Amino acid sequence: MVELKGLPGFRDFYPEELAARSYIMGVWHEVALRFGFEEYDGPPLETLELYTRKSGDEIVQQLYEFEDKGGRRVALRPEMTPSLARMVGARARALQKPVRWFSTPQLFRYERKQRGRLREHFQLNLDIIGESSVLADAELLAAGIEILKATGLNATQVRARVSDRRVLAAIFRHLGVKEDTLEDVYQVIDRLEREPRGRLEARLEELGLGPEIVSEIVATTELRGLDELRAQFGAVASVAERIAELSVYLEHLEDLAVAEYVDIDLSVVRGLAYYTGIVFELWDARRQLRAICGGGRYDDLLRIIANVDMPALGFGMGDVVLTELLREHRLLPEFRRSIDCFVAWMGADAGRQALRAAQVLRSAGLSTVFEFRERRLGSQLKSANQVGARFSVIIGPEEVEAKQARIRDMSSGDERLVAFDQLARVMRDEANGA
Ligand code: HAM
Repeated sequence: MVELKGLPGFRDFYPEELAARSYIMGVWHEVALRFGFEEYDGPPLETLELYTRKSGDEIVQQLYEFEDKGGRRVALRPEMTPSLARMVGARARALQKPVRWFSTPQLFRYERKQRGRLREHFQLNLDIIGESSVLADAELLAAGIEILKATGLNATQVRARVSDRRVLAAIFRHLGVKEDTLEDVYQVIDRLEREPRGRLEARLEELGLGPEIVSEIVATTELRGLDELRAQFGAVASVAERIAELSVYLEHLEDLAVAEYVDIDLSVVRGLAYYTGIVFELWDARRQLRAICGGGRYDDLLRIIANVDMPALGFGMGDVVLTELLREHRLLPEFRRSIDCFVAWMGADAGRQALRAAQVLRSAGLSTVFEFRERRLGSQLKSANQVGARFSVIIGPEEVEAKQARIRDMSSGDERLVAFDQLARVMRDEANGA
């Protein structure tokens, strides 16, 4: 029979890989809670329409969609934001604002095979709903950067690239781009780093834009830093207004001690169609991998999905690129199997006593395994080392007779005898380093 394999783009998590994932999830939870966010979750399967309303073409083309047995068009969630908008929208009045929520869903997208992109991934989503102040934008990016800091990544290793769709819109309108073409222009710019320049210019021209406007759009995406932006468009009142807000934003980031990670980079627009304001992506500084994280303000999505007017902003940070980057910089903690006690035994009576010992130790909260087969003590101690036991509890005929157990510290090799009815207490003290 042919061996059955897993699907391409879907991962098996063997214990070591799961430990890496748990570590990253642990950092996500810790920082999210430290920033005062509450955890929520939604269903992995949603109506297809939740995504076709506003997420944009690219993600809709990647959907795992089908008809369920009740004849509904449904899709596995490719992102969390529409579910969040639906959930918050449904209780908009009752919820205390601003809502600060986080979640770590597994998401599904039928992606082309490429480095850093799979067909499932876990993604931290951190969102603030019901707040229009730019302070919230700064807080959000600070939380994203704080996560990277917590893993040990520094400002030479990761960068935040920040842009603002309202700045871009003001510039493009000034250049003569029509309102209903703006979203299409963003979609082309989003592909800037993935496609050759000539192809992009052709795409912009296909939108009905003349060669002059096209080259000015391209030049705009090359602007870096507020000074360049000011020098180029500071005299245009509608742009100047937005530049002023961006500079307040940067000031807040400075106070939140993350400004050294941040670059203003107008080539970032974000691919998803619902963003309306400041947007950002976190990248490895050398840009050899895909984005680690992306997000921004999406003030219209709750109206589109749930018919309520609530400003919103958030980001998604995936586990795939982050794991790769941490591995590259040797920042993943070393994973060693570790348990408190291994119970070794010799002789039938000791075998029964070993089970009682394991039961007593586990009741005392100590992780414990026992040997399944009677073997030489040396082989049993070897197994104890293999499972990472800190202590072995050794029971042979003499120990049974004396109602004792021999405990062995596996790192020093020191042994001592303990009365069996004191075993749990002694081992608990030992394990706690008392
Ligand atoms: P996104 O840019 O599509 O945004 O995804 C965010 C992050 O998830 C990416 O930067 C990447 O690290 C990871 N990611 C996305 N797709 C894949 C994939 N196929 N394989 C591995 N990792 C992937 C969103 O999803 C928005 N909903 C984020 C958001 C939340 N915006 C506001 N709130």
